[in-house]
Amino acid sequence: MSIIGKKIIRIEETPSTNDLAKEYAKNGEGEGTVIVAEHQTKGKGRMGRSFFSPSGAGLYMSVILRPTDEKNGLLITSFASVAVCRAIKKVCGVSPKIKWVNDVYLNEKKVCGILTESLISEGKAEYIILGVGINVNGAEFPDDIKDIATSIEKETLKKQDKEALLREILKELDELYKTYGNGEFLEESRKLSCVLGKEIKVIRGNETYIAKAVDLDSLGGLIIERDGKKETLNSGEVSIRF
Ligand code: BTN
Repeated sequence: MSIIGKKIIRIEETPSTNDLAKEYAKNGEGEGTVIVAEHQTKGKGRMGRSFFSPSGAGLYMSVILRPTDEKNGLLITSFASVAVCRAIKKVCGVSPKIKWVNDVYLNEKKVCGILTESLISEGKAEYIILGVGINVNGAEFPDDIKDIATSIEKETLKKQDKEALLREILKELDELYKTYGNGEFLEESRKLSCVLGKEIKVIRGNETYIAKAVDLDSLGGLIIERDGKKETLNSGEVSIRF
């Protein structure tokens, strides 16, 4: 690994690897360091949601990034979802899909969530924390998510090797981190998308509307068509339902 994964810090339990990575980043930890936990007691998802993180079953990791030029958080989330799909396919033999912008799905259920958080100071990202949570093994989910979440083990009927998956994800992330700025990976992202070409329900604050997902723009934004007009969704604060 040239940047991402050169150093891995392993923790048995922490409230959230993203929060822990932020502490490390504030204290000067270098770019590419990865924090991996066996268990999170307060795993965080987008929009203030929690991320179910039971002991031993999943992969809970956060990467410290310090991009030097103006890079877009959406692009980082986007290339990370491609890296996760590639790695799951290679290690587990199944082909997941990307639900814009931060979810990875297997057989129409969520198997992975990505949460990118940054500290911006004077218009520049001091650091970006890329958090990835994958339901690798285990089959039991709490009632509120049991119909929408799954694990790779549940879908493949085979216990999966978390370490092999971690190694492969870091390898793919490391590779894509070097080149994602040129946007070439977006073509792969389009192919992996399970929303493009579909009618979707967009939930933005108090507003809910139906639109068609038509394309990704060069920054990873989702271009939608609504009442015959095109617009681009850039915000992570948007939810999409099929
Ligand atoms: C989502 O589903 O909205 C995003 C979930 C992100 C979960 C990962 S697990 C590792 C890292 N630490 C956290 O607290 N969250 C992310």
